[in-house]
Amino acid sequence: AIFAFSLILEPKVKIDGCQMNVHESEKLAGVLEKNGYELTEDKSAADIIVLNTCCIRETAESKILGNLGIVKKLKELNPSLKVAVCGCMTQQKDAAEKLKKRCPFINLIFGTHNIHLFESYLSEIAANENVIDVWEKETEIQENLPIRRDSGLNAWVNIMYGCNNFCSYCIVPYVRGRERSRNPQVIIREIEELLKQDYKEITLLGQNVNSYGNDFGDNRYGFARLLKEVAELPYKFRLSFMTSHPKDFSEEVVKVIAEHPNISRFIHLPVQAGNDRILALMNRKYTVEQYTEKIKTLRKYVPNAGLSTDLMVGFPSETEEEFADSVRLLENIGFSNVFTFIYSRRSGTKADLMENQVDYKVKRDRIKRLIATQFEIGKKLAGECVGKEYEVLCDYCSDGKASGKTECGRNVTFDCGEKNLYGKFVKVIVEKSRNTNLYGRLSEE
Ligand code: 5AD
Ligand code: SF4
Repeated sequence: AIFAFSLILEPKVKIDGCQMNVHESEKLAGVLEKNGYELTEDKSAADIIVLNTCCIRETAESKILGNLGIVKKLKELNPSLKVAVCGCMTQQKDAAEKLKKRCPFINLIFGTHNIHLFESYLSEIAANENVIDVWEKETEIQENLPIRRDSGLNAWVNIMYGCNNFCSYCIVPYVRGRERSRNPQVIIREIEELLKQDYKEITLLGQNVNSYGNDFGDNRYGFARLLKEVAELPYKFRLSFMTSHPKDFSEEVVKVIAEHPNISRFIHLPVQAGNDRILALMNRKYTVEQYTEKIKTLRKYVPNAGLSTDLMVGFPSETEEEFADSVRLLENIGFSNVFTFIYSRRSGTKADLMENQVDYKVKRDRIKRLIATQFEIGKKLAGECVGKEYEVLCDYCSDGKASGKTECGRNVTFDCGEKNLYGKFVKVIVEKSRNTNLYGRLSEE
């Protein structure tokens, strides 16, 4: 049997909470593979189509509805096709019932809390029963789901699930429940296994990795300790993590990074806004000054750190001056990469009930200006890399051309001659930059 597995979310390359969704798709695919299905690019040849949804912004949701339109046509052509919808979107209040009404052709709807039952749902729908099963509350962590990894040299590893932060704009705590940390021994065993299989980059995943272990009830095992223990596993690899909440990003963690050269120097630290009144309304629990201090500490211990962030425009009641503070923040800090978002109303969140929602046209205009500012900054920072040497993990190598990421998270393209460098760590000297792209040559050593 064959399945088309469609992952419906914003582009895969994006670093944000949605990596959770990408990795969950790998688990769904793992279960399907274990049950004899294989992946097909050709949707019309599929026996089952699984839409793993994301609801963090309205744009993500509309994409899914668009995709369901296509799936409906496929089902008309092939009535034996099974259609499953799962992921965050189904966890919203009344979402499953609404979806079923709107798209009666769906065979299976389940949520993020009961992914571990996917296998048994598969046999139920094979026996011609339709299933809707979305759990309101999270359960204990379920281990041992098979995983079909699909991210090249990199392997995602969940260290925790859920979020306790309740940023006022965000739907995640409602659809993913409270924070639950995986057992450290189980995590380390999984990672050792991956390193034995020759994965070269491990990315620890959680909505807020810095609060790892807070739910264990004692203070013995936090993120800093986990990070250190994983970094010290005796293999050649690079260790990354996401996402960090600035309020919990501690000096202790920064020191562990500084002491372990194999921990990526590319840190994603979402700031969301550059103005204190807006940050308070967002319930972010830090000020611009506190955020800036964190960056200073990071740069003190890790001078070559590369930074990225998430920044939102058009939060309810954001004024032109407050928006200008966000632009200023970009100029002051110098992120090599910024993920910009237009604030999107999410039903059930505090911000959705706030007065003075910002006009869409104003939001569009602000995001355009933000992107233009960042483009100039990114260009300038890329220029500053010229002449420097980096350690690059080569993740592409073909016909004499290679590329990969530096320890500070930048992509570099270089000539590799006859060598096959895929999966190797190599030294590259950057020779020129064009816009935000870097070009270099292999160092002679
Ligand atoms: N509207 C726009 N962007 C959002 N994000 C989270 N919720 C919303 C929303 N309602 C962004 C934040 C977060 C990233 C994963 O998505 O910037 O860091
Ligand atoms: Fe959402 Fe805030 Fe939790 Fe991130 S930390 S998932 S933005 S509530």
